[in-house]
Amino acid sequence: MFMRDKLRQSLAIGALALTTTALPAIGQETQGRTVAPLPAEIEETTELVPTSPVADSEGTADAGLESNFGLGRAATEAEIAAIDIDVMPDGRGLPEGNGSYAEGSSLYEEKCLACHGENLEGIKELGAPALIGGRDTLGSDKPVKTVESYLANASTLYDYIHRAMPLDSPGSLSADEVYALSAYILGRGGILGEDAELDAQSLPQVQMPNADGFIADPRPDSL
Ligand code: HEC
Repeated sequence: MFMRDKLRQSLAIGALALTTTALPAIGQETQGRTVAPLPAEIEETTELVPTSPVADSEGTADAGLESNFGLGRAATEAEIAAIDIDVMPDGRGLPEGNGSYAEGSSLYEEKCLACHGENLEGIKELGAPALIGGRDTLGSDKPVKTVESYLANASTLYDYIHRAMPLDSPGSLSADEVYALSAYILGRGGILGEDAELDAQSLPQVQMPNADGFIADPRPDSL
């Protein structure tokens, strides 16, 4: 839901880049293919989504995109939903579902322990980092960055596990499983108790030890 506009923008920019680099001269034969002639005039524009030379009856951004030089199309709701998985620091984007420390404990054993170790200490040879420990070390000579010591928001833990773990099968965990694993890791890090249960309401309320360790960066993400 947060990336829709960006996605539309970049689709449009992609279509534009293709157009400017890939189109040969008007009506030209290229390697046996005849390329449709361009309209007689295309106005120069600094707009990110230029007005299509093809008439846009609806006048909407989507319709404009679909008809832009005959290239590209607007992404469907389903296509956007499939990759729209980001979770914001305040919890926006968290799905329905819930999971407990106890459920997370057995899931961890089954799907994570082989790489992150019995005590969440990480297994160096596999490149898998420790998930807990290192609290208050970030300002020291030997900073240890873990979920416990580094993350400012528990929502980042949810987002990361959901998007990237387990390493050999990212995206395979259900929402309930990710809530459970988050509760387990935060519990093992002493941030929550062993009776912890998490859902979309409670997860953003978790107070992370390094919550105040970041400085806000006011620069916009990109154009
Ligand atoms: C095959 C090995 C492997 C498995 C299985 C695995 N991980 Fe990881 N995990 C990694 C590696 C390697 C990284 C570091 C990735 C990187 O830095 O790009 C990582 C990073 C992480 C991090 C980020 C830690 C940090 O401080 O940045 C979390 C959280 C995490 N894993 C949780 C899990 C959970 C939960 C599971 C089980 C569902 C799991 N991992 C299963 C290898 C694994």
